[in-house]
Amino acid sequence: MTGVTITGWGTALPERVVSNDDIATLFDTSDEWIYERSGIHKRHAATGPFVAPAASVHPPESGLGTTGTLAVEAGRRALEKAGVGPEEIGLVIVCTTTPDQLIPANSASVAAALGIRSGAMDLNAACAGFTYGLVTASGLVAAGAERVLLIGAETLTRATNWEDRTNAFLFGDGAGAVVVEEVTGEGSLLGWDLGVDGNLVHLLYAQHSSGMVMRGKEVFRRAVLATVESATASLERAKVGVDQISLFVPHQANARIMEAAAHRLGLPSERIASVIERTGNTSSASIPLALIDALEHGRVNNGDHLLLAGFGAGMTWASAVWRWQGR
Ligand code: ACO
Repeated sequence: MTGVTITGWGTALPERVVSNDDIATLFDTSDEWIYERSGIHKRHAATGPFVAPAASVHPPESGLGTTGTLAVEAGRRALEKAGVGPEEIGLVIVCTTTPDQLIPANSASVAAALGIRSGAMDLNAACAGFTYGLVTASGLVAAGAERVLLIGAETLTRATNWEDRTNAFLFGDGAGAVVVEEVTGEGSLLGWDLGVDGNLVHLLYAQHSSGMVMRGKEVFRRAVLATVESATASLERAKVGVDQISLFVPHQANARIMEAAAHRLGLPSERIASVIERTGNTSSASIPLALIDALEHGRVNNGDHLLLAGFGAGMTWASAVWRWQGR
């Protein structure tokens, strides 16, 4: 019997940090209001009103100014941590809802920069993207890919409407990557759930040339419901009780959504992995950023049960129960 496990990980964040006070120079708001409503103090920005525009997106240039460069840097660190070379990777998946161009997929130039030739594709399931990717990568490993480099990377600041004070403060840029690898035994993925309700597209969207439009209150309400229902389905399939979950790694959309979902699931706040205070909502990158932060702070041990849960535009949702184990 074979399963999957995570053997390497890495993150990348743009250098420029944008504070709530910076945001308050754009429209009528305050650090207190933003923090109280969202739990966000600051975010990293690759683009937007506080950053000089990048010269080109192809090929990805250095400087972490694009989705591609962030993905490459996080991916390079994950490969290094796993101790594997690009020729040992069976496929690279870049989960993103903010690709640098329409054609081709972001993953093509990311693979080139990393020296990977075995296969590359993008996956867009908005903020549920990384968890969709984790399930996809696990399936591909089971089908023989052996090792998948899974990257969540976003430059949401490019899709932000900086004149819309109702949501511009939420978003940030970054990337997180993991190496998903075949392992003998049951492996780490114990249960998962994916879902979509495409009738809710109108709640959160961006056209090619316009900024993000969001009905915040309705997204908030649906997000809590979707997270709790999906997480419950994954726990049931994994035959794992909520009391066995040592770390809840939710999509970092809003601290209040994360708290409300944890509360309804019966998880205490101390078990939430959270980086939202300093990264904002980074969509596909948010779960790996929070997971890797927890790993690097010694919050995850072998045998621990983690619960990952995301939701996003679409609306999409996804969750997974993951038992942490070494190689
Ligand atoms: N600063 C100060 N006041 C503001 C601001 C601002 N930036 N924005 C709105 N207000 C005002 C509103 O005008 C309103 O005033 P009124 O009562 O006089 O009409 C008041 O503050 C309250 O506004 P609400 O929209 O009701 O605030 P709410 O408590 O719903 O919080 C928020 C807004 C934070 C956007 C919340 O709805 C939310 O988090 N929604 C979910 C968003 C989310 O998670 N999206 C991402 C999910 S998917 C993805 O990740 C891509």
